[in-house]
Amino acid sequence: MSPDTIPLVQRSWTQVAAIAPQAAALFYQNLFGADPSLKPLFKGDMAEQGAKLMQMIGAAVGKLGDPDTLVPILQGLGRRHAAYGVQDTHYDTVGAALLQTLGQGLGAGFTPEVKAAWSEVYGVMAQVMKDAAKAT
Ligand code: HEM
Repeated sequence: MSPDTIPLVQRSWTQVAAIAPQAAALFYQNLFGADPSLKPLFKGDMAEQGAKLMQMIGAAVGKLGDPDTLVPILQGLGRRHAAYGVQDTHYDTVGAALLQTLGQGLGAGFTPEVKAAWSEVYGVMAQVMKDAAKAT
């Protein structure tokens, strides 16, 4: 990871976290717009689910510089996702919906550098989750 990646992601996240409920709603709109077949995987209240998602992304973003703490958290998350019926290919759809949401939330702040930093971070997080799901 380039040295700029972590601060770019952390700084841009504070802007999105400030509008967390709207960003979460937008994210699911983007996700289900891209693939409506994912809807039935979600059983609970979507506002609550959105809050959990935003909290988890925030926690992960805060721990990017502390992989010893972050990796086991993501491994547990990945194993739980396998139980929710999430498959490897879904991670690409979720990543695209997340980047789309960040673009909408950040506007002009979603520079090519910020986009590249988020792609890299999401890619690493998704890989750790997928690997853990496979190991179970
Ligand atoms: C970096 C990627 C992701 C993060 C940070 C994330 C975060 C979360 C969190 C925090 C929860 C709450 C439950 C728990 O902690 O186990 C959750 C549940 C869930 N996530 Fe994710 N998730 C990610 C990727 C995905 C992907 C790729 C899918 C595929 C569609 C997905 C679908 C779900 C579903 C179906 C649930 C359970 C909903 C329910 O109980 O009704 N997530 N996710």
